[in-house]
Amino acid sequence: MKLLVVLSLVGWFIPACSYAQQERLSGVLDKQRVIPDDATKFDFASGPHEARSFTALGDLSAVSSTGFTVLEHPLFPRYSVRIKKSKFCDGTVPAYTGYIDVEAHHLFFYFFESRGDPDKDDVIFWTNGGPGGSSAMGLFMELGPCNIASADAVTFNPYSWNERANIFFIDQPIAVGFSYADYGETVDNSIDAGRDIAAFTAIFFEHFTKFKSRPFHMAGESYGGRYIPVFATEVYEMNARLLDAGLTPVNLTSIMIGNGCTHFPTMTSSYWNMQCQNISGPPIQSLQTCVKMKRGLSRCERMLQSCEDAFNPIDCTAATMFCDALLWEPYIATGYNPYDITKLCDGAFEDTLCYSGFKDVEAFLNRPDVQHTIGADDAVKNYSMRSDRIGIDFFLSQDKMFPTQYYIAALLERGIRALLYVGANDWTCNWVGNERMTLNLEWTSRGSFAAQPLPGWTIDGASVGFTRSAGPLTFATIFGAGHLAPHDKPKEALELVRRWLAKEQL
Ligand SMILES: *[C@@H]1O[C@H](CO)[C@@H](O)[C@H](O)[C@H]1NC(C)=O
Ligand SMILES: *[C@@H]1O[C@H](CO)[C@@H](O)[C@H](O)[C@H]1NC(C)=O
Ligand SMILES: *[C@@H]1O[C@H](CO)[C@@H](O)[C@H](O)[C@H]1NC(C)=O
Repeated sequence: MKLLVVLSLVGWFIPACSYAQQERLSGVLDKQRVIPDDATKFDFASGPHEARSFTALGDLSAVSSTGFTVLEHPLFPRYSVRIKKSKFCDGTVPAYTGYIDVEAHHLFFYFFESRGDPDKDDVIFWTNGGPGGSSAMGLFMELGPCNIASADAVTFNPYSWNERANIFFIDQPIAVGFSYADYGETVDNSIDAGRDIAAFTAIFFEHFTKFKSRPFHMAGESYGGRYIPVFATEVYEMNARLLDAGLTPVNLTSIMIGNGCTHFPTMTSSYWNMQCQNISGPPIQSLQTCVKMKRGLSRCERMLQSCEDAFNPIDCTAATMFCDALLWEPYIATGYNPYDITKLCDGAFEDTLCYSGFKDVEAFLNRPDVQHTIGADDAVKNYSMRSDRIGIDFFLSQDKMFPTQYYIAALLERGIRALLYVGANDWTCNWVGNERMTLNLEWTSRGSFAAQPLPGWTIDGASVGFTRSAGPLTFATIFGAGHLAPHDKPKEALELVRRWLAKEQL
C-alpha cells in the first residue's frame, strides 16, 4: 500500500490510506455534511414545573476541592457534570476541572475564573485544532494562566486571557486529550463534534447560574477555523430549543479564530504566495520551483473546486495528492517550520510539531499527581497531546473540504461578531489565505468590508499588525508571530482580545 503523507492541522503529518482503502470508506461521505434541523436534540424532561423545582449549584465556591462534585439537572436527564476545584495552574483564582458527561461521551475541561472581575467578565470557550489536538497546547503554551517550561516547572503567565475573561479549555472531540467515550467510540467530523459542544455549553450555563446570560465567545485556532463556525452554529440553533423549553439561551456574542484554516482551497492557493512572493520575508523557494508551482497551481485549484462541488472521495483524494505534492512537500523539504516561515523546525516535526515545549506539556500531564489534581479519569491515564486516530478519521471523512466560510457569513448576518486574527509568519493557515477568504465572504456588508484599507494597528504607538474591519467582522494580523500567535506574541494577543471583548476598534 502506498502511503500518502497528508497534513492535518494543528498540523502534523498523518499517514493516510491508499485510494482503494479510501473508496471502501466512501460510505463515510454519505453522511449528512450540513447541520440538520434537529441537530441538537436535548431530551428535555417535562416542562417548566421541574425547572422551577431544580436548584442549580449556582455558585462555584460550593464545588469540592477533595473529590468530584456531581451535578445533575432534571431537564437534561442524560447529562451530568463532574467538577473539582483547585489552585491548579493559575494560583490567584480558582480553577475548576472535570468532565461534562454527555451520555457516554465525556468531555474534559479546564475552567479558570477571570483575574479581573469574574462576576462581570465575559466567558470564552477555547479549543485547539488538529483535528485531534488537545487544548492543553493552547492552555500551557499559548494563552492560559500558566506556562510549562519542563515537566516540573510551571510558571505564571501574566498575559493569560483570563486577565480579562472567564475561560474554558476543552479537549474535544471525544478521544482527544483527557476526553473519552465509554465504548471507545469516536466522531469523525465537526458536525458530530459540535453536538457534544452545544450540549456541554447548555449544561454549563444551566448549572453555573452566576455565568448565565454572560456574553459568550467561542474561540479556536488552526482547525478551529472549521470547528468554531460549526460549533457556534450549533449553539445558535440550540438556543431556539432552549427558549422553547423555557430555559435561558446562551448569550453567543462572537467567534474568534486564530490562524484558522477555514476554507481549504483558498488556503491551498495561498501556499504559492507565501513561498514565492516577498510577503513575510523574501521567497524561500528557488526560482525554478516557484515557476513549476505556479504552472501547476490553476490545475490544483480546479481539482479542489471539483472536490468541493462533487464531494466524493475520488475527486477529493486526487486533489489533495496533487496539491500536496505541488505545494506542501517542497515546503517541508526546505526544513522550515510550517508554523513559522521565518524559522527552522525545532526537533522532528512528527515528534514535536517543531516546538520542543510540546513534549514538556505531555510529560507534565502524565504526572500522576497532576492527573489527580485535575481529576483525569482512570480511563485516560496515558495522556497524549494529539490523537492521530482522530486526525485520520477526519481526513477520511473529508471534513475539511466543506466550505466552512458559509457558516461565518451566516453568523455575521445574525449579528454574531467574528474576529479572524493571524500571526503573520504562519505558513500553514497563513494570513494571505485568511485575508482572501474574508474578502470573498458573501454577506450583506461584503462591499464595505472590502472597501476598507488595511492599515496598521498599534500598541503604545508601535505598529503590531494590519487590520481591516466593517460592522461585526474584523481581520487582523500580528507581526512577528507564527501559527501559535499567543505563544509568540503574548502581550499583543492579549491586547487584541481585550479590545475585541470591549468592542473597541483595533
Ligand atoms: C448578552 O450580553 C449583553 C452584554 O452584557 C447584554 O446586553 C444582553 O442583554 C445579553 N443578552 C441576553 C440574551 O442575555
Ligand atoms: C521585500 O519586502 C520588504 C518589506 O516590505 C521590503 O523592505 C523589501 O524592499 C522587499 N524586497 C523586494 C526585493 O522588493
Ligand atoms: C502511552 O502512549 C504512548 C504513545 O501512544 C505509548 O508509546 C505508550 O506505550 C503508552 N503507555 C502505556 C502505559 O500505555
